Amino acid sequence: MKEAKQPVVSFRNVSYQVGGQVVLEDLSFEVFAGEIYGVMGMSGVGKSTLLRLMMGLIKPSKGEVAIKGTVINSLPERELNRVRLKMGMCFQGAALFDALTVAENVAFGLRRMRPRLAEEEIRRRVAAHLAEVGMEGSEDKMPAELSGGMRKRVGIARALIMEPELMLYDEPTAGLDPIMAAVILDLIRSLRDKFGMTSVVVTHEVDRLFAIADRVMMIHAGRLIAEGTPEQLRCCAVEEVKQFVEGLTAGPIAV
Ligand SMILES: Nc1ncnc2c1ncn2[C@@H]1O[C@H](COP(=O)(O)OP(=O)(O)O)[C@@H](O)[C@H]1O
Ligand SMILES: [Mg+2]
Repeated sequence: MKEAKQPVVSFRNVSYQVGGQVVLEDLSFEVFAGEIYGVMGMSGVGKSTLLRLMMGLIKPSKGEVAIKGTVINSLPERELNRVRLKMGMCFQGAALFDALTVAENVAFGLRRMRPRLAEEEIRRRVAAHLAEVGMEGSEDKMPAELSGGMRKRVGIARALIMEPELMLYDEPTAGLDPIMAAVILDLIRSLRDKFGMTSVVVTHEVDRLFAIADRVMMIHAGRLIAEGTPEQLRCCAVEEVKQFVEGLTAGPIAV
């Protein structure tokens, strides 16, 4: 019988160790289609590492990572790239190419993966995706001319143009003023509402995460210590979760 609800992302007993340090230990969770799934925890706890495992950029020391039912741990690079096409990543610092214009940045993946696409069509899609993130008309700007929030939005447009089913956001609101943070969170939510996009949002900013996430997990000392809806985590009895949610242990500002 076909599984009714196949997870988009599935971690099964995943551990990650580097240079003798256990970064993540025995993590198991699933993210379902159309969900906004949050990952919270203090700086340095392994949140970015978790996203890198999800993209197959690094391999777990133990356990399995599966994307839409395909275990990606041991996939050859070419097949891994095919799975990666389903995923868009918004990196912590936007990671734009500084020497390329906004339009060239946004078109980058499209040109590489769809070399036969007409120039006119590329231009049309770039414009449409810049509009989607509220950055219409910024094609000819250079990244250095943009604010942090604008760079993040261009980074999101660059990922969206590949039409991913799953978007991964690493600290999408860190360092942004409240208005810009709200713009980015609205965007994440509207992508879900309009296209049923699945999103994993990693952040140390609890309030902002709780405002948009369907479910949230918390990582502490390498382990998943709680998972549930924002309401459930607000009432969670686990001491570390309580402290984190109440902001008592506000970690160092993530960079
Ligand atoms: N390639 C690596 N080499 C050495 N240490 C690493 C590597 N990747 C991650 N780490 C360590 O893993 C921990 C978690 O890092 P990270 O995932 O960036 O945390 P977060 O995103 O939650 O701030 C840190 O202690 C970091 O030093
Ligand atoms: Mg990080």
